[in-house]
Amino acid sequence: MTLIAGKPASFWIDSTPTSTFSPFINNLVVDVAIVGAGIAGLTAATLLKRAGKTVAVIESKRVAMGVSGHTTAKITSLHKLIYADLIQQLGEDKARLYGESNQAAIEQVAQLVKEEQIDCDFSRQSAYTFADSPEQLSQIEAEVEAAIKLGLPASFVKETSLPFPIEGAVKFENQAQFHVRKYLLHLARSIPGNGSYLFDDTRVETVDEDSPCQVQTTRGVLKAKDVIVTTNLPILDQGLFFAKAYPKRSYIVAASIDPAKAPDGMFIGIGEQYRSLRTTPYNDGVLLLIGGESHKTGTVTQTEERYLRLEDYGRTQFGIDTFEYRWSTQDMVSFDKLPYIGKLTPVNNHIYVATGFSLWGMTKSTLSGMILSDLILGRSNPWADLYDATRATPFISETSIKENLDVGKHWIGDRLKGLDESSFADVSKGEGKLLTIDGNKVAAYRDEKGSIHAVSAVCPHLGCIVDWNSAEKSWDCPCHGSRFSCDGQILQAPGVKEMERIQ
Ligand SMILES: Cc1cc2nc3c(=O)[nH]c(=O)nc-3n(C[C@H](O)[C@H](O)[C@H](O)COP(=O)(O)OP(=O)(O)OC[C@H]3O[C@@H](n4cnc5c(N)ncnc54)[C@H](O)[C@@H]3O)c2cc1C
Ligand code: FES
Repeated sequence: MTLIAGKPASFWIDSTPTSTFSPFINNLVVDVAIVGAGIAGLTAATLLKRAGKTVAVIESKRVAMGVSGHTTAKITSLHKLIYADLIQQLGEDKARLYGESNQAAIEQVAQLVKEEQIDCDFSRQSAYTFADSPEQLSQIEAEVEAAIKLGLPASFVKETSLPFPIEGAVKFENQAQFHVRKYLLHLARSIPGNGSYLFDDTRVETVDEDSPCQVQTTRGVLKAKDVIVTTNLPILDQGLFFAKAYPKRSYIVAASIDPAKAPDGMFIGIGEQYRSLRTTPYNDGVLLLIGGESHKTGTVTQTEERYLRLEDYGRTQFGIDTFEYRWSTQDMVSFDKLPYIGKLTPVNNHIYVATGFSLWGMTKSTLSGMILSDLILGRSNPWADLYDATRATPFISETSIKENLDVGKHWIGDRLKGLDESSFADVSKGEGKLLTIDGNKVAAYRDEKGSIHAVSAVCPHLGCIVDWNSAEKSWDCPCHGSRFSCDGQILQAPGVKEMERIQ
């Protein structure tokens, strides 16, 4: 077994208390129901309550333990490389709206922090996207040119505070970073009261548009005039968002670093081997976060190697020898680089969604809260059309064809794999394996004590075959990113049903 360093937990979660809101009790009517207490849901709830609406946030687990509790939490409109591409694909006007809206989201976070006096280590920082090889330099130059043309606070730099040389970087000034859970737990605490609620430990199973909408939960039905579904990938299949975006997992290791050696700013590289870097206050010192090693969810089994490569980078580039934490998470990547924010389908008038943040959801989910609250309040919003969730989607783009063919391959092809009969004896301690037993696909894990945990390998969402994730000890679905514990419990949407247990 490979030994990975660091506590297997998100620093953000480990350094803050777990929320303890009560579960939902049957029979309640509010103006707006919000499904999911991540940054998208909590921002929408906060803005709507501030505007005088009654809201009920319903969370299947605990507040901000999903993607938002595992992020890197850089708040920036510099999304690696995007502006040169957007200008080419969508034209200058739309690219400008993208930049402007993400800048506005940074200011929205700053305003909430200031007005609500949120103690969340919020600090203004410069953001950099850097090239570490000469071949990458032209992409950086094109990005600087595009960003300046769009009026963004961009410049080209060759010198940074990184302890290694770079070829060049795009620098955006006056961006920000924070402790994401300190921020979100504060927003969560301010929601209950005056007819508004937040419920932990309550899973939403379906939402029916009616007058009012019916939100079916595991603990009864909630009624609301409008419903916002912010479960990262919507649990409702009607909008086909699972076919307009794909799940990407990424990894983070964190180490205490001498403050004198800590880089000043937030950094991200480009290319396959990119690294994402930022620091955060830690005890009396500084914690350095090193991220990277992304891949499509459910397509890599030996995930330990991903952590080991990040550790190796920390050792060689920063001289680190001890790692405090390691964690991973995933986000939905949209095919046209724009998030989906708005109505679930063209025929829905009261069900809204926000998804496809493409690993830059601190600004984009804040933006989704701003847009969705405006739509529900009947106010015009300058960016709503650009991100319209029902827009004509590039189903025939190169990425979407590849990703949807890949889903088809998993749906059909994975069923044909390993048709030979096998037995639980084939599974070693600490290992997860797909077996065929009596003609059924079985996902089996043997724990360190030797006990077998067996579930049907068929994903309860839309029937793909799951794959083992060795570092997180979870079953991950390569089709739309649902994840399950070794006992089949749901770890990540869109799934709303547990995996079928096998005795
Ligand atoms: C490794 C990594 C690093 C990242 N770093 C950055 C960064 O530095 N800057 C940046 O801008 N973005 C970053 N992102 C992206 C950003 O973290 C996400 O886009 C954002 O957190 C998504 O928020 P969310 O509210 O959509 O999802 P979540 O935080 O996952 O919230 C969804 C909530 O819905 C709940 N839920 C699910 N199903 C149900 C149900 N049936 N009923 C009720 N509740 C349900 C979940 O439990 C969860 O709490 C990163 C992403 C990754 C993968
Ligand atoms: S997540 Fe859709 S089939 Fe598994």
